Amino acid sequence: MSVLGARCAREVVVLLGARGLLASLTARALREAGFSIVAVGRAEPHPLGVDVTREEAWQPAFWSQLLGAARGQGGSPRAIINFVTCKQGPAETLQQVNLAGVRALVAAATAAREQGAHPLTLHLGSAAEHRPERDARGYAGAKREAHAYCLTTPGVDVVLTLGIVQRTPSPAPAFVRFTLRHLPALAAVPVKVCSAEDVAQALVALVRHPVAPGEPPPASPSELWLEGREARLGELFGIAPHPVRARTWEPWMLRALATLRGEGFPWLARLGGFARIALGRAPNHYLGPAPGTAPTPSTELRELMSPGRWRILPFPRSADHVPFVRAAREAAALPP
Ligand SMILES: NC(=O)c1ccc[n+]([C@@H]2O[C@H](COP(=O)([O-])OP(=O)(O)OC[C@H]3O[C@@H](n4cnc5c(N)ncnc54)[C@H](OP(=O)(O)O)[C@@H]3O)[C@@H](O)[C@H]2O)c1
Repeated sequence: MSVLGARCAREVVVLLGARGLLASLTARALREAGFSIVAVGRAEPHPLGVDVTREEAWQPAFWSQLLGAARGQGGSPRAIINFVTCKQGPAETLQQVNLAGVRALVAAATAAREQGAHPLTLHLGSAAEHRPERDARGYAGAKREAHAYCLTTPGVDVVLTLGIVQRTPSPAPAFVRFTLRHLPALAAVPVKVCSAEDVAQALVALVRHPVAPGEPPPASPSELWLEGREARLGELFGIAPHPVRARTWEPWMLRALATLRGEGFPWLARLGGFARIALGRAPNHYLGPAPGTAPTPSTELRELMSPGRWRILPFPRSADHVPFVRAAREAAALPP
């Protein structure tokens, strides 16, 4: 075993929401990198079952016991990552679960520190939070509230915001591909995209090279952005780029699509969101921070920039918590 492998084998990463898509892939990537995993899930197959909406999960005492499992695996936690989310359902549930995930993360981090460990604590944000429409009730609003909690409650080291995450093969239903094929203006929306595997690799890189882990914990987290490769929205769904022909009905169709919110119908909601972005004031929404608005990367961060398909960048923050949408508007000289 290499020196690095031998070192990592004693290091444990705790994953909250371990049964989800990104957590599963991250667990695999971390294991391949030599880390041990403590998988905390809500239900089977995880022996460590925790419903984060239960108030006991917000108490460090609860996590002190649970982190014993980390010691049982031979180490104190190197990192604790919060993957818990709820994307659909009543607004109250969305808010409750997304916020509770961060509260559990903070409590787990406090417990770890009380035991003398200094894990990197990481929460995942979503570009959806920064949509110009600022939907207060849906997933975006719930994620925004969870993010705000990270900013105001000491204990979270890093918020890594993700843009579009691509799954291969894309699970998009046929009507989504049909719509994109017939609405070239929508298919042409520029995006930056990371595969789910890229997200996992970026998280491994962060765990290996924690960005300024605080001791005492930082008053507010480092804000990072995972930048992916450039693409057009249509490409994500296997629609080959084709010349845009002016169609009189297309703007009308886009406006109609933009009214879709689709509670309970996530793909309708996504199409509606894409249409609002295509029509809206921040059509560059999924490109991430506008050029020149992101802070200069630190030396530590420059090491984390992969030469491949993804890069970890500093994420500009603003007082009203809509950082790059505003920047994108300014870049496009649009009114606020
Ligand atoms: N996937 C994307 O495209 C994307 C894009 C941008 C940002 N993100 C962010 O990345 C993170 C992970 O996303 P994901 O797509 O991998 O999520 P996911 O597949 O939906 O997984 C979410 C996890 O949260 C768990 N969970 C839900 N309610 C819970 C509760 N009350 N107590 C404990 N656990 C609970 C779920 O457990 P069960 O399995 O038991 O339901 C599941 O394991 C989230 O913060 C998300 O906002 C994802």
